[in-house]
Amino acid sequence: MAKVIGGITTSHIPAIGVAIDKGLEDTPYYRDLFATYPPIREWLNEEKPDIAVLFYNDHGLEMWLDKKPTFAIGCAPQYENADEGWGIKPIPPLTGETELSWHIVNHLIENDFDPTVCQDIKVDHGATVPMTLLWPNHNYQGIKVIPVAINCERHPMPKPSRSYAFGKAIGDAIRCWDQDAKVVLLGTGGLSHQLDGPRAGILNAEFDNYCMDKLVSDPQELCKFSNVELIEKGGAQMVELAMWLAMRGALGEGVPEERLRNYVSPISNTGVGVQLLIPQD
Ligand code: DHB
Ligand code: FE
Repeated sequence: MAKVIGGITTSHIPAIGVAIDKGLEDTPYYRDLFATYPPIREWLNEEKPDIAVLFYNDHGLEMWLDKKPTFAIGCAPQYENADEGWGIKPIPPLTGETELSWHIVNHLIENDFDPTVCQDIKVDHGATVPMTLLWPNHNYQGIKVIPVAINCERHPMPKPSRSYAFGKAIGDAIRCWDQDAKVVLLGTGGLSHQLDGPRAGILNAEFDNYCMDKLVSDPQELCKFSNVELIEKGGAQMVELAMWLAMRGALGEGVPEERLRNYVSPISNTGVGVQLLIPQD
C-alpha cells in the first residue's frame, strides 16, 4: 500500500525563485532562508519518495477571478508552467501520476468532497518555487507530482477547517491506494503577508510561530479560525495557511515528529516558515 512518509511546509514567494536564478542564495538577505533547505534535500535524497502531493494555490495563471474552483486536482500526465511576469524563468515540466490522481478524485467524491478535475493545467509559482527549492537544478525527474489547488484568492474561500478535512480525505485516499509508493506532502505558501491594499506589508511573527507550533501539536486549534480572523491577524494572504492545514490533515491525526523548523521574516513581503514533519503512526 502507499505510505505517507512526511510533510514539508515551505513558502512559494516568487522572489525566492528570482534569487535562485540570480545566484543570490548566499547573500546576507537570503542566507538564513536558503540554509534551511539542504537538510530537507538530504532527507528527500535518503527517503526517495516516489510521489509528491503538492498543495498550492493558483494566483491567476490558470484560475483568474472569473473562474475559481474551491478545490482542484491535477489529473494530467505532465504539468507545464509559464512566465507569470514576476521575473522567474519557466522550469521544465513536472511529471504527473494520473493513476493516483484519479484514485484520490474517486475517494474524495465518495467522501463528500467534489473537486474540479484538471486534465490539462499549468502550474504557477505556488508549485514551481517549492519544486525548485526542494530539487535544485530542476532535478525532479525521479518524482511524480500531483498538484492540488486550493482557492486563496477570492471570497468565498474554503474555511480553514474544510481545507484540513479535505487534506485528511486525501491522506486517507493515499493510504488506501494499493501500490507500494512512498508519498511526500508539500504544503506551500503562507505565512503572514499582504501584497496590496492599505495593509500591504503587514507581518505577524508571533502569530506565524503560534501557527507553526499548533500545526504540529494541535491543528484543530487552527481550524477554529475563520478566514477573516486569519486575515485580521496576518494579512490578506495569511489565508494561504489553507495549504499547510491540508498537508497536516493528510499527514494523519497523530502528533508528528518535527524534524526541522525555520522562520525568517521578512523575505520579500512575507513571514517565511519551513517545517519538516514525520508522521509517527
Ligand atoms: C509574495 C508572496 C506570495 O505568496 C505570492 O504568491 C507572491 C508574492 C511576496 O511576498 O512577495
Ligand atoms: Fe502566494
